[in-house]
Amino acid sequence: MRLNDLLKLGTQELKNNSIENSSLDAELILSNTLKYKREKLLCNLNWKANKLQIRKFITDIKKRKNKIPVAYILGKKNFWKTSFLVNRNVLIPRPETELIVEYLLKISKFNSKNNILDIGTGSGCILISLLLERKNWRGTALDISKDAINVAKSNAKMQHVLNRITFVNSDIDNFSGYKYDLIVSNPPYINSSSIKNLSEDIKFNEPILALDGGYNGYSEIEKVIKKSAKLLKLKGKLILEIDHNQVLMTRKFLKKDNFYINSVLKDLRGLNRCIISTKF
Ligand SMILES: C[S@@+](CC[C@H](N)C(=O)[O-])C[C@H]1O[C@@H](n2cnc3c(N)ncnc32)[C@H](O)[C@@H]1O
Repeated sequence: MRLNDLLKLGTQELKNNSIENSSLDAELILSNTLKYKREKLLCNLNWKANKLQIRKFITDIKKRKNKIPVAYILGKKNFWKTSFLVNRNVLIPRPETELIVEYLLKISKFNSKNNILDIGTGSGCILISLLLERKNWRGTALDISKDAINVAKSNAKMQHVLNRITFVNSDIDNFSGYKYDLIVSNPPYINSSSIKNLSEDIKFNEPILALDGGYNGYSEIEKVIKKSAKLLKLKGKLILEIDHNQVLMTRKFLKKDNFYINSVLKDLRGLNRCIISTKF
């Protein structure tokens, strides 16, 4: 069967099942099946797929029809400059989280030395991206989920930064460590009762531990701020991802714990997304 016909078939199947980006998803799934880059696939649509490839493509299209996110089907997701391994034990890295990486690279020198803690590391995408760009930085990757820590370790190994990261499987509440120069965190911040309103892709597939921020959405944000107040060096920075409507309350928590608020960064949609503060 020609690749063009396979693509049309997959796209139509996804469209019939109300998958939003049906054509892009079918392309990504077929590129992955063939182990081609998407560009190579699109330039060779007259080539033919063999039986095995057709079977795999159809199986993966079925998964997507059942609302499994493309990143989990492919087992990887691009973030910043790297591709990260992902599975259902970790949140799929989001483009808005790249704001944290972009900001820290902008304010730090190439040869700077920093010890950084990533609270709720998930796939390790934030910390690993930073360590790849700053060769003198070391970090601690902490997560309450043992399975997430294992994914982060695999990513660190793949990116050759394993020897610069200490992995800690713990609730942030129970962690006491060194004093850090920087703390980054993208904690779960959706309130428990809103989880049911998320898309099926998210609510039935991504780990609840990565999404659920308690009854008002602030339980993990508060924990991160309180603990960071103890773990940061004087003038150390906390870079926290939050939901766009959580700025006011988060500011209050930060001020209560003696943080000075430097700025709030907006994501590509123009929504407040990241709050930068300094420990005093
Ligand atoms: C929103 S995900 C962020 C993952 C990754 N940092 C990213 O930005 O893609 C939040 C992560 O925090 C972890 N987590 C949730 N509650 C925690 C807690 N109390 N202590 C430590 N980690 C926690 C979850 O297991 C999950 O991996």
